[in-house]
Amino acid sequence: MDKLNVVVISDDIDTKIRIKNLIDGEKFAVSGFFEYNELTVLKILGRHPDVVILSYEGDGKSALQVAEQVYSELRGAALIMLAGSVDMEMLSNAMQRGVRQVLPLTVTSEELGEALVKACSLEKKRGFENEQPRIKSRVISFFSGKDGTGKTTLAVNTAVALALQGKKTLIIDADLQFGDVAVLLDLDPQDTIYELARDVEEMNIDVVKSVLTMHKSGLELLAAPKSPELAEYIHDKTLEVIINTVRPYYEFIVIDLAPGFGDISIAAIENSDIVNFVASVDILSLKNAKISLGILDALRQKEKVGLILNRAAQGIISKADFEKVLSLAPVVCLPEDKEVLSSINKGVPFVTGAPRSAAAKAITAYVNTLCEVQ
Ligand SMILES: Nc1ncnc2c1ncn2[C@@H]1O[C@H](COP(=O)(O)OP(=O)(O)OP(=O)(O)O)[C@@H](O)[C@H]1O
Ligand SMILES: [Mg+2]
Repeated sequence: MDKLNVVVISDDIDTKIRIKNLIDGEKFAVSGFFEYNELTVLKILGRHPDVVILSYEGDGKSALQVAEQVYSELRGAALIMLAGSVDMEMLSNAMQRGVRQVLPLTVTSEELGEALVKACSLEKKRGFENEQPRIKSRVISFFSGKDGTGKTTLAVNTAVALALQGKKTLIIDADLQFGDVAVLLDLDPQDTIYELARDVEEMNIDVVKSVLTMHKSGLELLAAPKSPELAEYIHDKTLEVIINTVRPYYEFIVIDLAPGFGDISIAAIENSDIVNFVASVDILSLKNAKISLGILDALRQKEKVGLILNRAAQGIISKADFEKVLSLAPVVCLPEDKEVLSSINKGVPFVTGAPRSAAAKAITAYVNTLCEVQ
């Protein structure tokens, strides 16, 4: 049986850790920990959870507001509230807003597990036959502290390979100043992410769809602005809203990032399920990777990181050195491959233009693993 998909909302880090420790990983998968702010409901809707655990904090206003909105907008998601202490007034306020059960924070793991399963089965009985089928979506960012490691090349080829497997896939070019995903796909987008920046409050899936460009593989592209100076109009919140707006509609959302820890990249990383850290196999890249992984750890994002080693060749620094220094085994290892450059020059991704190349085989194998766990 599939694990039940749970999201947890709290402003307090200790409470989040406590709830995380209470949740039995065998039965439940936590797809997100979020705070209470103006994007909370959007983020919850994007994850399509079976259960939402709301921590009742302060006067409880935030938790009750979120409960009310999720109950009316997301069919099939059960609401559970956890509180330091429970009284009658709070209980009745919570129930009126669709909360199935209010439990004390001192609850045991077994009690919480039982409550989650029960709440889910009751929620399913509300019966929503005409609901749209749910899509399990995964957001995959390609990131590196350093430039030129192969982020864009690998993001584009991964996205095309996913689309060719029949997966509904969107690629977002979030290298806002110098994005060249469109060039690699040989596309000339009419509209870009810049067209979305003006009206963040009014964002919805139809607005986003109206600015996408379709590639012949079936992959859809949200292109970077046409000119570097337009990048300043797109803020981290804009990207966050876009990601969470498109989430329910795509199986895979691939994001290509500019090098380094800018606000846009941090927003993308925080809203991703997988962060592919791309390192080229040389000494400067290794040093940079060590520092960058430390920062990702401090940002509490390291759990999501998958290491991709690119341009591995015979040399002083080897794959084994990376594994040892970073204490991380690569999920993909690509050789230096002349087909990569020739595919870029032709505007044809190597997974289609040179499917037998070593680079294409490595990406195809990686994409197969992604599709298996879908
Ligand atoms: N495995 C490979 N074999 C040969 N060349 C490669 C390989 N991977 C990437 N390259 C080449 O390296 C160059 C940089 O690649 P790419 O633009 O994808 O890097 P990037 O990390 O996105 O750079 P930036 O940080 O500037 O965005 C390109 O010319 C690409 O063709
Ligand atoms: Mg790039």
